[in-house]
Amino acid sequence: MSSSTEQEKKNAAREAVKLIRDHQVVGLGTGSTAVLAIHEIGERVRQGLVIQGVPTSNSTAALARELSIPLVDINSVAHIDITIDGADEFTKELHLIKGGGGALLREKIVAVKTLQEVIIADASKYVERLGRFRLPVEVIPFASGYVLHELEKLNGKGEVRGAPFVTDEGNYIIDVDFKTIEDPVRLSARLKNITGVVEHGLFTGLAERVLMGTGDKVQVFL
Ligand code: 5RP
Repeated sequence: MSSSTEQEKKNAAREAVKLIRDHQVVGLGTGSTAVLAIHEIGERVRQGLVIQGVPTSNSTAALARELSIPLVDINSVAHIDITIDGADEFTKELHLIKGGGGALLREKIVAVKTLQEVIIADASKYVERLGRFRLPVEVIPFASGYVLHELEKLNGKGEVRGAPFVTDEGNYIIDVDFKTIEDPVRLSARLKNITGVVEHGLFTGLAERVLMGTGDKVQVFL
């Protein structure tokens, strides 16, 4: 990764963390951009910020503990005030592809419970139409062959990730090439309808804003 991409991620992460207020429940994302935000949150906690974090993956939970960020069980809170998470792609309509890091299931559960879902990204993540990045689909291992076949009917060419890669919830990920995704809302519904699909990485109607680092500035998409 170039140092300018790294700086864009850091700038976006820093701006996002400024949105956090005392006594909020804060969703902690997964991935290299979210890690930068979590370090920034750790620093703010060290300086006296009082929050409770809800991690979106085991790796994020481990990092939060290392940084002494207090954590709370997602099932003991009615909602999450603000979540800061990354994305693999986003459009100006705030449609996202997530799951490159394999944490899309918990990320989406956290997102649906979140009042303000803030996405942070470097400039390479912006696209006119989703689909350059292969869409991660989380499946029950027993159903992976069936789901691959059903995805073909939707013109999606899928491949089970890794050897295989196993998610925090014990599932597999199928990375699917749909070429350009013209209608993410419609595709989202069709994917959810396939037996054996647990969740997929299309996030529509969930992001409240995207903060994109570009050069030395941060551009806000609302
Ligand atoms: C993990 C994710 C990540 O947010 C996404 O892959 C972006 O990662 P990075 O910030 O490393 O580019 O969805 O499941």
